Amino acid sequence: FHVDMDAQETDKGPYPYYMLKEIDEQPNVMRKLASLYTEESGKPNVDSQLINAMKEADRLYIVGAGTSYHAGLVGKKLFEKLAHVPTEVHIASEFAYDNPLLSKKPFFIFLSQSGETADSREVLVNVNANNYESLTITNVENSTLFREATYTMLLHAGPEISVASTKAYTAQIGVEAILAKALGEAKEQTIAEEFDIRQQLGLVATGMQAIIDEKDVIDDLAKKYFVPANRAFYIGRGIDQTVSLESALKLKEISYVQAEGFASGELKHGTIALIEEGTPVVGIITQKRTANLTRSNLQETESRGAATFTIVRKGLAEEDDTLIIPDVNELITPLLSVVPAQLIAYYTSLNKGLDVDRPRNLAKSVTVE
Ligand code: AGP
Repeated sequence: FHVDMDAQETDKGPYPYYMLKEIDEQPNVMRKLASLYTEESGKPNVDSQLINAMKEADRLYIVGAGTSYHAGLVGKKLFEKLAHVPTEVHIASEFAYDNPLLSKKPFFIFLSQSGETADSREVLVNVNANNYESLTITNVENSTLFREATYTMLLHAGPEISVASTKAYTAQIGVEAILAKALGEAKEQTIAEEFDIRQQLGLVATGMQAIIDEKDVIDDLAKKYFVPANRAFYIGRGIDQTVSLESALKLKEISYVQAEGFASGELKHGTIALIEEGTPVVGIITQKRTANLTRSNLQETESRGAATFTIVRKGLAEEDDTLIIPDVNELITPLLSVVPAQLIAYYTSLNKGLDVDRPRNLAKSVTVE
């Protein structure tokens, strides 16, 4: 699996924008994480002191902003399912001023591509003041969040230049999956022992490449449905709902289409009133248990005129599904289901003639509160 990502230069090369380059780099980042953080045997290769510290915790608190917060929402599913540890996920700017009731033995995980987000740094100052232990998962060595946490793990994703975060999101989820596997094994959870994260990351890398190779299909969808839209919805349930939030953020921040990520069962409690003729609604369907529920929610929007699409895991695909993603363990389908959404955002922005890498009003790292 050895891929020397760090040697890559940060210029765009043949790419028109960094974002497309960074989307294309994702398969190699998955391979790099597998080679760095797991052994040939499939065993995680993670700092044992960190795992022991996390094992002592009675509750994990994941803190992040924007896309990193969305990666934390997936982390919750992973830590709770594989390591059986209650996990809360908090928006950094909310957590800092919320004084939440903490458990007796909390452990904090900070997710931040830049390691400089002021909202997240504010929380870490409080965490350190209370002598709680913490882990920072970041892409930037020696960043503030890297230096001020008890433990650190690097994403090794290579520089992420485009304002819209793509490979950092999937790398954060990859690292969370490796950590959850290691913690679950330390807690003798059978489900963790049976979860072959090294093999899964290999499958994810191959699956990502297959989706990336179909980018022209997504370019056409963007031109036809998303470029003319002024609003769009991504809907899903459970882990698919968390990806709907990230998918909507991507589209919003670089194409300025008013997009919302929504729990698909919640639409009928009000928001479905916004559906008009031609409104794009994308159903994310990767979980067997909720697939048919989301399909019927999608139907409800279609009967009100929506232009509906599906991002479906292969094993659940039906006749006229739009974007089919390869099968991987249901716990890590976000690593694949997000890729079509990243590409939809990219091609919508590109076809609208916008500056994909430098969207209006936004900075790559928000170092003010
Ligand atoms: C995501 O595409 C945005 N660029 C933004 O939400 C970003 O994820 C957020 O500002 C957090 O940045 P960080 O990961 O560097 O802390």
